[in-house]
Amino acid sequence: MSAAKSVRLDRLLANLGYGSRREIQILARTGRIKLDGAPLRDVEQRVAADDAFAARLTVDGEELDPLPGVAVMLNKPLGVTCSHKEAGPLVYRLLPDRWRRRDPALSTVGRLDKDTSGLLLLTDDGALLHKIISPRQQIAKSYRAKLDRPLRGDEAEVFASGALMLEGEDKPLLPARMEALGESEALLTIVEGRYHQVRRMFAAVGNHVVALHRVSVGGLTLPDDLEPGEFTVLDASEIARIFAET
Ligand code: URA
Repeated sequence: MSAAKSVRLDRLLANLGYGSRREIQILARTGRIKLDGAPLRDVEQRVAADDAFAARLTVDGEELDPLPGVAVMLNKPLGVTCSHKEAGPLVYRLLPDRWRRRDPALSTVGRLDKDTSGLLLLTDDGALLHKIISPRQQIAKSYRAKLDRPLRGDEAEVFASGALMLEGEDKPLLPARMEALGESEALLTIVEGRYHQVRRMFAAVGNHVVALHRVSVGGLTLPDDLEPGEFTVLDASEIARIFAET
């Protein structure tokens, strides 16, 4: 995505993490920034911060990083965390180093537990982030859960009831869909994002989740060829799919 406002080029590049404005001046002076293949020296000029301009620019021969307003889908591996509150390496380490110096910074769209793998969205677009996590949107999130014990048979009904109360809470869960994938494996689709929700739902029906993997958010599904730890930048149609009817 891009916003076609005009910005100073050194500011744009600094906000993408290419260095301080001083460092960017040096990059330009040494011919490492090119526009249409020719060295661009004047980094104080105002440019259109849009994809058409970005496509003409290279730094060290490489195309420019995505402009602000980026959204990515990451296949979160096990063992990395979405928050400083949990011990362990952060998911942000899986992004290119330079991206960690971006302003605005990317944030995870909601969280997955350290022990949960699968589809995790990250964006620097606050409005998009809030739209996805807004309870009013009721975006469906689907998880494949491997369970410690065989399903007992009534779980789908209990989860769909809209009456299931999680331990320590006073508001029942909204109806959720569950499909058995095997004797002790299920696909669970929820529209809320309560703390450890999937694990606690299975605990509420006397089971225990031993492995949890998120396969989709809204109409956006994790592609089979996106390996754990890999990410892909979403285009506008993929972002729209998040909000598609499921
Ligand atoms: N529910 C959980 O229990 N954990 C997650 O990471 C996501 C949903």
